Amino acid sequence: MKALIVYDSVFGNTAQVAQTLAAALETAVLPVNQVTPETLSGLDLLIIGSPTRGFRPTENISQLLNALAKNHLAGAGVAAFDTRIDLATIDSNVFRFIVDKGGYAASTIAKALEKKGGRLLAPPEGFLVTGEQGPLKDGELARAAAWAKQIALQDDSFSRQSFAA
Ligand SMILES: Cc1cc2nc3c(=O)[nH]c(=O)nc-3n(C[C@H](O)[C@H](O)[C@H](O)COP(=O)(O)O)c2cc1C
Repeated sequence: MKALIVYDSVFGNTAQVAQTLAAALETAVLPVNQVTPETLSGLDLLIIGSPTRGFRPTENISQLLNALAKNHLAGAGVAAFDTRIDLATIDSNVFRFIVDKGGYAASTIAKALEKKGGRLLAPPEGFLVTGEQGPLKDGELARAAAWAKQIALQDDSFSRQSFAA
């Protein structure tokens, strides 16, 4: 079972979610600046996470995804997450509308992972921060651990290890 969680993080919130997922799944975790396409070869499970910035993943995450050959992730179960602003903390109706409609990093990452041959194991997920630089909203790390378990239940490699039990 070769599994890896890759993340980018400017203020540390996405890193915290990534570490929580790694602990829940007992997998390795690496920041994107330590990852090359070769690092992602032959994986059974790959989870990628990014802060949402300007409705998109960071440039580092986008560049890594773009550098992958078609079918690079064939045989891998994949999942994507982001961190994003809690809409409830935005006072302006107009700004809240724009942020919501603009879209989020996780769905973009998930589409790219599938385009590179990965098999999506869970819907893209967003974890909330309560200010531009964080912190994460209360309960989000617990929700991240639960999301990890949902992925583990979908993944054959984990089932074979009776991880779910
Ligand atoms: C320049 C900038 C752009 C941002 N754009 C968005 C956005 O489009 N949507 C959103 O929900 N949050 C947005 N945010 C909030 C980020 O998602 C937040 O900073 C991030 O979740 C923090 O993660 P990190 O600590 O891992 O960097 C933005 C923040 C910054 C600084």
